[in-house]
Parts: sequence; structure tokens; C-alpha cells
Amino acid sequence: MDLETLAKRYEQCTMCPLHQRRTQVVMGEGNPRSLLMIVGEGPGADEDRQGRPFVGKAGQLLNKILEAAEIPRQEIFITNIVKCRPPGNRTPRDEEMNTCISILRQQFVLIRPKIIVTLGAAPTRALIDPSARITRVRGNWVRRKGVLFMPTYHPAYLLRNPSAKRESWEDFKQIRDVYKKLLNNVSRQDEHEDGEPQ
Ligand code: URA
Repeated sequence: MDLETLAKRYEQCTMCPLHQRRTQVVMGEGNPRSLLMIVGEGPGADEDRQGRPFVGKAGQLLNKILEAAEIPRQEIFITNIVKCRPPGNRTPRDEEMNTCISILRQQFVLIRPKIIVTLGAAPTRALIDPSARITRVRGNWVRRKGVLFMPTYHPAYLLRNPSAKRESWEDFKQIRDVYKKLLNNVSRQDEHEDGEPQ
């Protein structure tokens, strides 16, 4: 099983009512072996049209944040808690998230990220704590089964509340530092394995 096969399997998905009004399923994109995965809420109009996550206004801000943190977008994996656009960009309903999360879990199994960044309340509640308040939990690492979760603000929230950008940047500096450290460890392990006698 790989990500392409998974995408094919759900191309015509009808598991929840969101399928009725979507243009296409937006599975996510990026490095299939990424150590870092970013999970948003759900595709918006631009994402629904283009079939790619975070390509609209919020996506442009996310790109800027990643650039500032020197995390190349193509090096990581970006996806959403629901893969089909909620009509009018409303927050996905619990039933929709509970259904679609089975796809996300399969992506976790295939990619095996070490860091998962949840953007905003919906993915934070679905993946970390159903009663979490994003303003309270953001910026704090949570470790589960060897994976580090970092909840932070959704870029769409930052567009509406620019004063929250400072806190968001603090979170992304933490994400950058842990990510770079993990990358270093992995490349040192690879070197070590390459250097081992056959
Ligand atoms: N907002 C999200 O949560 N996800 C996207 O892919 C785009 C905007």
C-alpha cells in the first residue's frame, strides 16, 4: 500500500455527506516519508477546485510561515482532518470528522511522521483532546505513542486576528527546532548505516 493507492481507493468516496457537494477529494500532498505532518481542518473553495491542500489565502500565509521557519513545504506532508470541502467553508461536523479520520489514520501508518502539527480547534480536538481550547493548549507539545503533537493557530484565524501571529511564530520556532533536530538524527543514522561493513 502506498499513498497513491490510498488516494485511488477514496477517489469516489461517499462515506459521509460532504461527498455530495465536493468537486474532488483533497487527500493532501508532500513527502511520503516526512517526519513532519501538518493537519488542517478541511479543503476550502480553492483547494476543492485545485485538488491540493492549503493553496488559497490561508495556504499562502502557511507558505510564508514555513518559509520563515526554513521548513521547505515539499519536504513535509500537508493534509486535513476531512478530505472534502464542507459547504460554505463551515467547520466539519463531528460525524464527518469521525468518519474521515479513518483515512488520516491510514496516512499516519504509511508516512509515520514523528511530529504532527494541528492547525486550529477542529484537528486539535479530533487528534489530541476533544475538549481542548486552542488558545489554551497552543504552543504545548503533547507526546502520544512516540509522536509529538503541537497544536497551534489556523492560518485563517491569523488572517482575521493578526495580533496572534506573534504566538504562532513562537510555536513554529519550537516546531522548527524539534524538526531540524530530528532530521539531523535521522541523517546521522543513515550515515551510520551506510558506513557499516556489509
Ligand atoms: N484551510 C484548511 O484547513 N485546509 C485547507 O486545505 C485550506 C484551508
